[in-house]
Amino acid sequence: MSIESFHLPSGVGFGGDYNPEQWPDDVRLADLDLMREAGVTIVSVAIFAWASLEPEEGVYTWDWLDTTMDRLHASGIAVSLATATASPPPWLTTKHPEILPRTVDGVVLSPGSRQAYAVSSPTWRAYALRMATAVAERYRDHPALALWHVDNEIGCHVPHDYSDHAAVAFRRWLRDRYGDVETLNAAWGTAFWSQRYSDLEEVLPPRTAPTHANPGQQLDFARFSSDELLAYHVELRDALRAVTPTVPITTNFMCSTATKWLNYQRWAAEVDVVSTDHYTISDDPERHVELALSADLTRGVAGGRPWLLMEHSTGAVNWQPRNRAKAPGEMMRNSLAHVARGADAVMFFQWRAAAAGAEKFHSALVPHAGRDSQVFRDAVTLGDAVSRLAPLVGSRVQSSAALVFDYEAWWAVELDSHPSADVTYVDRVRALYTALWRRGVTVDVVPPDADLDGYDLILVPTLYLVNDADAAALAAAASRGATVAITYFSGIVDEVDHVRTGGYPGAFRELLGVRTDEFFPLLDGERVTLDDGTTADLWTERVELTGATAVRTFTDGPMAGRPAVTRRDVGAGAAWYVATRQDGEGTAAVVDALIAESGVRPALDVPEGVEAVRRVGENGSFVVVLNHTAERVDLHLRGTDLLTGTRSEVHTLAGGACAVVHEG
Ligand code: GAL
Repeated sequence: MSIESFHLPSGVGFGGDYNPEQWPDDVRLADLDLMREAGVTIVSVAIFAWASLEPEEGVYTWDWLDTTMDRLHASGIAVSLATATASPPPWLTTKHPEILPRTVDGVVLSPGSRQAYAVSSPTWRAYALRMATAVAERYRDHPALALWHVDNEIGCHVPHDYSDHAAVAFRRWLRDRYGDVETLNAAWGTAFWSQRYSDLEEVLPPRTAPTHANPGQQLDFARFSSDELLAYHVELRDALRAVTPTVPITTNFMCSTATKWLNYQRWAAEVDVVSTDHYTISDDPERHVELALSADLTRGVAGGRPWLLMEHSTGAVNWQPRNRAKAPGEMMRNSLAHVARGADAVMFFQWRAAAAGAEKFHSALVPHAGRDSQVFRDAVTLGDAVSRLAPLVGSRVQSSAALVFDYEAWWAVELDSHPSADVTYVDRVRALYTALWRRGVTVDVVPPDADLDGYDLILVPTLYLVNDADAAALAAAASRGATVAITYFSGIVDEVDHVRTGGYPGAFRELLGVRTDEFFPLLDGERVTLDDGTTADLWTERVELTGATAVRTFTDGPMAGRPAVTRRDVGAGAAWYVATRQDGEGTAAVVDALIAESGVRPALDVPEGVEAVRRVGENGSFVVVLNHTAERVDLHLRGTDLLTGTRSEVHTLAGGACAVVHEG
């Protein structure tokens, strides 16, 4: 099975998490009618069903799931069937309390919510494997089975476990990485603070210590934790694959700038199709831009291939401080924004809103109010819209701009004892992305070792940690003609978090034609001015020009008169350096200059606030357009709007409305 060959049975998938174990049979029967009415084509089942499927050790109650699978199949609905391992049942944690995870402070996390397992515990792994295998053997030949769903959002609540099980697995991982203790000592710089190890068995997870833990230890523990959670997925996946070699397997990622600790760029190789969950934050006025960034990140994780939106919400969630329902049209725009950026399924948490439990105030396709509700009417409208999108299944998003995104750089730059605690990773990612979004430029959010050949513009926010090969690839991209822009505190350390000495920004000094001998981070609330009248905060540094020219200069602050933004001709391209945190206006002006220089173009000329993305595939070219403004807009685009069936040269879009134009 390869990712390329994966397709849902019918068009763009539409559905969500379905938990029949929470409901009596009359409701389950009514669900099937409502699913048909809404046009549901796929549901995720049994994610949290372990205690309902194995209420006592070794005693299985498959009947309800057998019936569910049969009825769904009879209704023409495919099933993404889970391993039921996302939450251990109480009998298991009672019998084996040693499977519970521990926090950095040694606190044991109690059962009674979900995901209460230490992923490195051999006992947990054996039980989880047994459950996944039992589900696989039961449903191996069931015609409803379309996709396996391993566990659920692995690592969501417990990205790091500091238990003794973790300590054992961490040492094993370190032995694989370093071979022997002296290599580890060199990598972690343990000559410092008397930290030299004489045996790998002395190494512990970076638990709460008197002061800053060794940064190499912290960074490797982050790498280990992501790899260990992935190894758990792989173990369950392989068990499923042994039983059903031809059924595709996924596990739902949480690709967004809110999920730091899972390196999905590594995980993607271990699933047959990338699937992800995404939730907007209701008090973020630019949540549609964050959604776009997350979707572009998901596509980058998927290597440009289509992916599945496994969960999002019809309205409010339950886990934000204030959970606001979506505005009219917002669910449709959110769903189609994911499709625009590469999703081939639009699914929700959840089908029917729970009446009990921690998530009872989370929205669903069928809300507490039932069928007679705006949400359900909107769900029916959305299901109808999604059913019209089959021609674009499998098509790929077109982009000639890239934004380099690296999980390890994120982890490393936010370690403690740095020049400024205010330098965070996502900050510049989002600032640069937003400036491009406003200009309608589609961006591939890619790992630093991606093939950069097709890109005319490459943005590199806060790439604090970078290896030699990736730094060289960026330099090569500039030489062959790309415009490369790098922001402050990049290129500082190598992959083991050792400073690249001789002047900052280490790995990029030559490419950028600048050399910095000292940082001058700004104090809390301090703001400086640039010579174009815009301002900056948070960061300055003493930049010396060694080949670059200054594009902007500080007019005040500790670096008055010195370069703030620089540019250097490199072969057929150019390399820009942004040595401070510019305000929105300053960032927009630099990004506009980068767009002009690189020649990247928006997918369609539309007013600001209107989002347009092009997907191209076997059936031609599709432009998905979302009007986030309240104004009507005319789209000059010859083709047929799949949503309405209207063929025209000019499509008029009402405020808040969407179109999916099949060009030609
Ligand atoms: C996801 C999770 C779902 C549900 C949802 C609520 O993180 O996979 O099970 O909890 O959040 O928004």
